[in-house]
Amino acid sequence: MRSIALYFSYSRCYDNSYLEHSIPLTCYHFLFSVYDSSSLLDPKLLESKITEKSRLLILCSSSNPTGSVYPKKLLEEIARVVAKHPRLLVLSDEIYEHIIYVPAVHTSFASLPGMWERTLTVNGFAKAFAMTGWRLGYIAGPKHFVAACNKIQSQSTSGASSIAQKAAVAALGMGYAGGEAVSHMVKAFCERRDFLVSAFGELDGVKVSEPQGAFYLFLDFSYYGTEVDGFGLIKDSESLCRYLLEKGQVALVPGDAFGDDTCIRISYAASLSTLQAAAERIKKAILSLKPQVYV
Ligand SMILES: Cc1ncc(COP(=O)(O)O)c(C=O)c1O
Repeated sequence: MRSIALYFSYSRCYDNSYLEHSIPLTCYHFLFSVYDSSSLLDPKLLESKITEKSRLLILCSSSNPTGSVYPKKLLEEIARVVAKHPRLLVLSDEIYEHIIYVPAVHTSFASLPGMWERTLTVNGFAKAFAMTGWRLGYIAGPKHFVAACNKIQSQSTSGASSIAQKAAVAALGMGYAGGEAVSHMVKAFCERRDFLVSAFGELDGVKVSEPQGAFYLFLDFSYYGTEVDGFGLIKDSESLCRYLLEKGQVALVPGDAFGDDTCIRISYAASLSTLQAAAERIKKAILSLKPQVYV
């Protein structure tokens, strides 16, 4: 069983003094230890880890950082587990709902029987409408939960700009799931995904799993690790990313930020030509590294 793969802002919630007392450490850790090799939550494992102290289950589909998408059947099994624990709520982050590749299909957790009352659905404009940094999102759920969220949110951050709100109104006017413009963008993401999966698939020892949604590859690079002259020891995801930045001038995110130190995350929200150049540079830089473990 491998650990985690969770969008790092959720892991940081624990460090937030607002939430320190409302999210028990045990819950935080348990979220990080019930993922199977497909980076999807295993309902049986989930069931075995829930205690009377568990309060919040965080789901993210399509996932940042793995690009995994939960099939409806699996979500139904998770819903059956959740239903047995009346004090457990679900936060379902669906910000990548429209960035999904055929044949994967998005299912909203709150749409499953009995789950609307238990679920806070998080969404926003940053991804499907390329409004990263505009910081406009929304939450959907039962009124009493949303009112409680409002109390915290209004004291920690406030004032969505009128420009972002106008842009969001325009985005919603583009048609179902963003209409043709978004499907055109998703097609381009899919081509980039295919390119990167095949480019990194050729590298010795790198474990690649094909993302079904979002625009990230989460690659297991634990095969590589060595002492490099003039650089030092590559011993974890952070030192590997630093090495690739210095040697190849390619910026990547260490898997450690998501709780998995064996991986690095590549965002393919960049043009195909940029990604082709980046893949070449990574390959070239990696060639001078010797494997630390033979797999
Ligand atoms: C899973 C997930 N949720 C939420 C967000 C937040 O998006 P923003 O704050 O840019 O609207 C991101 C951004 O990377 C994300 O990956």
